[in-house]
Amino acid sequence: MNNIHPDFERIVSRKTKEKKLGQSSKVFWFTGLSGSGKSTIAEHFEKKLFSEGYFTQVLDGDNIRSGINSDLGFNMEDRQENIRRISEIGKLYLNNGVISLVSFISPTIAAREKAKSIIGADDFVEVFINTPLEICENRDVKGLYKKARAGEIRNFSGISSPYEAPENPAIEIITTSQSVAECVDKLFNFAQPLIKY
Ligand code: ADX
Repeated sequence: MNNIHPDFERIVSRKTKEKKLGQSSKVFWFTGLSGSGKSTIAEHFEKKLFSEGYFTQVLDGDNIRSGINSDLGFNMEDRQENIRRISEIGKLYLNNGVISLVSFISPTIAAREKAKSIIGADDFVEVFINTPLEICENRDVKGLYKKARAGEIRNFSGISSPYEAPENPAIEIITTSQSVAECVDKLFNFAQPLIKY
């Protein structure tokens, strides 16, 4: 950090940007296994928010990992770095008044604690997409569980790498008994008081 002089004071403030956008910014942090429905729900949630007049950004594991984080793999150290960078990006959006929907497995409590500390506890909203491993594996939308079981993918979350469910998420979404539209409605109703200006 030598010779670095960050200046966060002279730029247009978050409050001013929130006022312009007519919303309070937050980071909705979706966590859950691969195939649990995080990205699908985040995408539909974004459409709902946008259609209701909110300004939003989705940050998604597969997309970010094909761009800014393309140098990272799936060992724990790389996953931690993945989460750290995403948290910093989420914070940039936050300070721009934008509501971000961040969708990563983020498999450990420690990694999500780190995310919370970077973003700030008041603005970090943990959304647990609670879909049991058996269901994710049955769905196997991307065919990755089959490969993981066959030993073709190493360190696969839930199979050969841990997934620690949140103990006290801000909201839990159960995808097995509700449609995507119902999940999104539940999330929207929960989110509204947090994001209203
Ligand atoms: S995280 O653990 O670092 O948060 P992230 O959400 O970015 O993971 O990426 C998960 C996505 O990468 C999965 O949805 C899947 O498409 C793909 N993937 C490839 N290899 C693995 C693996 N070993 N474990 C989990 N996901 C993997």
